Amino acid sequence: MSKKLLLKDAHIEGIRYFETYRKQGGYTAAEKALKMTPEEILEEVKVSGLRGRGGAGFPTGMKWSFLAKPEGVPRHLVVNADESEPGTFKDRYLMEFLPHLLIEGMLISSYTLGSNVSYIYIRGEYSWIPDILEEAIEEAKAAGFLGKNILGTGFDCEIYVQRGGGAYICGEETALLESLEGKRGNPRLKPPFPAVKGLWERPTVVNNVESIAAIVPIIDITGAEYAKIGVGRSTGTKLISACGNINKPGVYEIDMTITVEEFIYSDEYCGGIPNGKKLKACIPGGSSVPIVPANLLLKTVNGEPRYMNYESLADGGFATGTMMGSGGFIVLDEDQCVVEHTMTLARFYHHESCGQCTPCREGTGWMHKILKKIEKGEGKMEDIDLLWDIQRKIEGNTICPLGDAAAWPVAAAIRHFRDEFEWHVKNPELCLTQNYGLANY
Ligand code: NAI
Ligand code: SF4
Repeated sequence: MSKKLLLKDAHIEGIRYFETYRKQGGYTAAEKALKMTPEEILEEVKVSGLRGRGGAGFPTGMKWSFLAKPEGVPRHLVVNADESEPGTFKDRYLMEFLPHLLIEGMLISSYTLGSNVSYIYIRGEYSWIPDILEEAIEEAKAAGFLGKNILGTGFDCEIYVQRGGGAYICGEETALLESLEGKRGNPRLKPPFPAVKGLWERPTVVNNVESIAAIVPIIDITGAEYAKIGVGRSTGTKLISACGNINKPGVYEIDMTITVEEFIYSDEYCGGIPNGKKLKACIPGGSSVPIVPANLLLKTVNGEPRYMNYESLADGGFATGTMMGSGGFIVLDEDQCVVEHTMTLARFYHHESCGQCTPCREGTGWMHKILKKIEKGEGKMEDIDLLWDIQRKIEGNTICPLGDAAAWPVAAAIRHFRDEFEWHVKNPELCLTQNYGLANY
């Protein structure tokens, strides 16, 4: 049984409201934190080993310690709730069912960082959630946990919710800041990082919803205890949103010591694959991370079991491994066609490219066109090599990681499933009537 820190009270009726959340011990971590110094809290976060839960896995304590503190310049905390990575819906769950966990985490984090005005930037498609968050903010304010002179400490904090317009790119932290400033969501060049020059050129920490929610149990149980959960540099618990060909899609909290096999097949989590089908592949960290075939997913290159954590999933590098990413776990059974799947992703990235860099703006479109051709049975063998060449020219040559995110799925699909691409070229007449999975497994 996996340890629950974030979702332990998610099943309690009314936990969305302040009164019930408070009865369950809510805001006691905030009370404890406000008696500590910001430096002491930062130390707890560092000791916890918490890594950013949005996808990059950057150590949260380190990011906080990079925050510049020029005299007289306001600082900000911005929560990235623009959860748009295909396959990822864990932050939605947190905000919808446990809004006070996020608000409490934001209060502690804002106090630590010295942010008197903090923001939640939420994706436009989550249209019903801002009301939930705003209600929770009002409740917290009425109870003295937000606003002026919180709990008599002299610390003031306001939280505002900003709705995005539905662009994937606004989840990239600098595009998000541009959008929050009222401009088009174009990513900025980094450095300077937001910790130095962020919102309105002020020092800003941008953190994912789950990262900020995790601050509450860290303060509650201490950073040292949090670090004991999990393994190696994968400390604490991680939310995984599981979808695709599984019996029990949903959001699960894992402690990162379980194997991928256990996660897919045990009844506590995904409950196996419907109709006894075989596992073909999986994308374990949201659509931007490389697809992994079943044989490499269940064991590492060294034959060890593969675990649901940052290190094990990346074992073997991009050649064989993948990434924990945002925890959007997408399962493909034996009937699925990887070419079709990759084409769908290429269309998505082409549509969402902001257009600032040529390799991304043009390359994503070319990749989509070629994949469409191959999928329809109109491709040539050279197209597979062309596709490989294009993705290589995108990777590492763009302003923001959307370029890499568009290139990696294509690279991994060709690397691991080249036979499937070749089948489409060799069997044009079959491409229109049956997909590769159904025809070949
Ligand atoms: P990144 O690795 O560039 O940065 C991670 C964080 O560390 C950023 O906040 C950055 O400002 C900070 N940082 C890194 N070096 C720093 C330094 N020297 N000084 C100060 N701060 C520093 O990754 P990024 O662009 O933030 O995220 C990419 C990831 O986002 C991808 O791996 C992907 O998995 C994920 N993603 C998640 C989505 C979602 O819906 N959750 C959507 C799209 C992508
Ligand atoms: Fe825009 Fe793509 Fe360049 Fe990112 S990589 S800045 S999305 S064109």
